[in-house]
Amino acid sequence: MTDLLKQAYDPENFRGQAHRLVDLLADHLEASYSQSDKTVLPWMDPDQRLLKWQNDLEQKFEFEPFWKDTIDETIHIHHPKYLGHQVCASLPLAGLGDMLNGVLNNGSAIYEMGPVSTAMERVVIDWLAGAMGYGKEASGVLTSGGSLGNLTALLAARQHQSGYDHWTEGKIDGFHPAIMVSEESHYSVSRAVQIMGWGEKGVIKVPTNPLHQLDAGRLEETYAKAEKQGLKVLVLVGNAGSTSTGSYDPLDQIAHFSEKKGLWFHIDGAHGGAAAITPKYRHLTKGIERADSIVIDFHKMLGISALTTAVLFRDGKRSYETFNQKAGYIFNNEEREQWFNSAVRTLECTKNMMGVKVYSILRTYGPQVFIDHFTTCYDLGREFAAIISQGADFELPYEPESNIVCYRYIGSGKTDHELNRLNADIRRKIIESGKFYIVQTQIDNKTYLRSSLMNPFTSKSDMEELLEEIRMYGKSG
Ligand SMILES: Cc1ncc(COP(=O)(O)O)c(C=O)c1O
Repeated sequence: MTDLLKQAYDPENFRGQAHRLVDLLADHLEASYSQSDKTVLPWMDPDQRLLKWQNDLEQKFEFEPFWKDTIDETIHIHHPKYLGHQVCASLPLAGLGDMLNGVLNNGSAIYEMGPVSTAMERVVIDWLAGAMGYGKEASGVLTSGGSLGNLTALLAARQHQSGYDHWTEGKIDGFHPAIMVSEESHYSVSRAVQIMGWGEKGVIKVPTNPLHQLDAGRLEETYAKAEKQGLKVLVLVGNAGSTSTGSYDPLDQIAHFSEKKGLWFHIDGAHGGAAAITPKYRHLTKGIERADSIVIDFHKMLGISALTTAVLFRDGKRSYETFNQKAGYIFNNEEREQWFNSAVRTLECTKNMMGVKVYSILRTYGPQVFIDHFTTCYDLGREFAAIISQGADFELPYEPESNIVCYRYIGSGKTDHELNRLNADIRRKIIESGKFYIVQTQIDNKTYLRSSLMNPFTSKSDMEELLEEIRMYGKSG
């Protein structure tokens, strides 16, 4: 053991460092909530920032200035003027779970390497599955993110639906499997299909209605067309909150169609699937309990730090088929259903102690904290949309169903082409100013500003100020 290693492992050293870092983080949270810190994203060109940190490596190291600089220079998700991508202003206690994970470093995909987080993961999954309306035969796993979650669910679907042991034999001649999904689906769904080797052809897009929801009236013709092209549709995916517009597909109708055709029904509820646990927004997910699998990101609408995703299966047995050469054997041998070794059912071999993070929040505040977080943010989305629709110089392309709100400054007498450029320009100026953080999206080939109301601290006056800021840049642009 070298002296340097002794120093790096020293518990007293760690104690002092941790206390100081926690103090800095608590100060940061206070400054963000109160907005005494005026900056959401201290903008700097990426190359310039790289240079700064390359040079920093050569400087004398001082603990507090280093961490303070790291916090100050990065994006501040907890700032009420952060209205950008769908990453939540995480509950600080979840951050302590991350610290615990980092220090204990349990690789929790097998029981012996993470006994406590494995048990906690099971409790969390059972709770969420029940809250979705699933029965006791349901089960699932936590994965590092919704993208991996969608792939995990679709791999299980493939094995179950193929009619042969796809995992062992691979693709066979004359069999071209496919999924059907709305035009608004997240790219991780088509990416998962392409990872499975089904190609672009294997992703059949179902047209959407003016609210950007999958048009259930087009399912039959889309399915028939795919079959005619020689594709074998195995899975139908519904969005419970699409990424770009936050729209909810008609899950009940999709369930009905899937049952009729014998398809696996998967719900990408990474953003908004958790509506099902809230009394106020539950109606958006009507039919969710009929899905074969559901993905829900805790790090989007449930206040947990990234990445923490639940993959739920209505029939838990299905999740054991995914990577098994002889799926039939598994069903005959209960002992192989090792709920406590999640590596059997996911791609992750060493995984974070995600169970602890969610469990600690559930244990401390109860499920109501998730309901409050979700409901508050969705309420804010409605409030923002209402304020936007009062301004004659703004356009709201549709009435948002969630906390994802798209809008654009229209001023007066401008063509769509000019408005596309103008709004992209407005966004650039806004994020470079550091005062707000918003993003943009394309809807029907038009550029819209896009805000996800992810922070319960965002207030009406923040929203009004943002619109004033946009007007200012809009008029001068
Ligand atoms: C609907 C939807 N599905 C999946 C994902 C991917 O989730 P993650 O970023 O956790 O991988 C996202 C991310 O924004 C999403 O909005």
